Amino acid sequence: MKENWVEQKVKKFSLIGGYKKPELYQDILKLDSNENYVIPKQFQSELFSIARKNSDVREYPLGGVENLIQAISKFVKIPSTMIGVGNGSDQILDLILSNFASKETKVLTSNPTFGFFEERCKLYSIPVTAIPFSKTMVLDVEEFLKQSKNADILYLDSPNNPTGFQFSKIDLQKLVKSFNGLVMIDEAYGEFGDYSLSSMVKDQKNLVVIQTLSKSFGLAGLRLGYFIANKEFTAAFNQVLQYPYPLSTITIESGILALEKPSQMKDAVNTIKQERKRIIENLRKYDSFEVFDSKANFVLFDAYGSYQRVYSALIEQGISIRKLGKIGNHEGCLRVTIGTKEMNSKFLLAIRDLLR
Ligand SMILES: Cc1ncc(COP(=O)(O)O)c(C=O)c1O
Repeated sequence: MKENWVEQKVKKFSLIGGYKKPELYQDILKLDSNENYVIPKQFQSELFSIARKNSDVREYPLGGVENLIQAISKFVKIPSTMIGVGNGSDQILDLILSNFASKETKVLTSNPTFGFFEERCKLYSIPVTAIPFSKTMVLDVEEFLKQSKNADILYLDSPNNPTGFQFSKIDLQKLVKSFNGLVMIDEAYGEFGDYSLSSMVKDQKNLVVIQTLSKSFGLAGLRLGYFIANKEFTAAFNQVLQYPYPLSTITIESGILALEKPSQMKDAVNTIKQERKRIIENLRKYDSFEVFDSKANFVLFDAYGSYQRVYSALIEQGISIRKLGKIGNHEGCLRVTIGTKEMNSKFLLAIRDLLR
């Protein structure tokens, strides 16, 4: 029997595969999703109990997003008319892509880049040019400047997931200024890096800077992302593209409270940066690995032919990291999230035992 169009569509979607989440393990040290455990669970629990008291979930959160945007505006020191929010930055990326891009729109990005973004481009059949990282896991800005002439959308995660690379500020500014199409700079890991491009938005009409509370604020489960862009883009996004009530009341109230007390976040970011240095230095002691620099809350390393063994041995020790495999010429890439000091020490001890 001939397939009808619904069946054809479903088949097409199932062939795409979608974003691969990490394995779900019970009772495991979770260093596979770039979450932030340095902020204590107790701190977040107290925040939620106040948020719960401030919430009446019988009602739609009318005016809630607007209040949250005011809190973000104070935090980032950018006018509220230039800020929009989403159900995680995932949803912001998706809404921009699905509404601005099509089969005729060319996207320029890096290879690798954020997996969810790649998958969304596949889903919408958007043609992508991806410039590969070098052997030392850095990007060549000249190559981007050359290729950018043929592109409509430039997407860069800055710092990049999974490499941890961030362009120098001067290079990225140069690239953004030279680009005529839409520029999406994803700063999910921005607080762990050297700079943000958010202040550039004031003069650069085609620039959208996307940020999130998932990483630095340790609120991945809250699903709260935001962006900074010019007033006209922001108004169109907020009034037309975004859903009327994209965030739950609890998310809005918790987000406001978190943004009002950023010192906990800043301390956690400092700890993570110090721990990142310790992990890189320690892993570099082993000839069995090539370890790349990182400006994010994770470290990428190539364990060559033994990456499967390293991954499985860590699982046996109750530690889950991200198995990525081949990236460019690097056969056995693994990515480890920077956890608390204790978590990181356990990880390093397990590696030492494994390689002894
Ligand atoms: C580069 C990048 N952008 C965006 C996200 C998604 O963040 P959110 O939790 O805000 O959806 C991630 C999450 O891993 C990421 O790595």
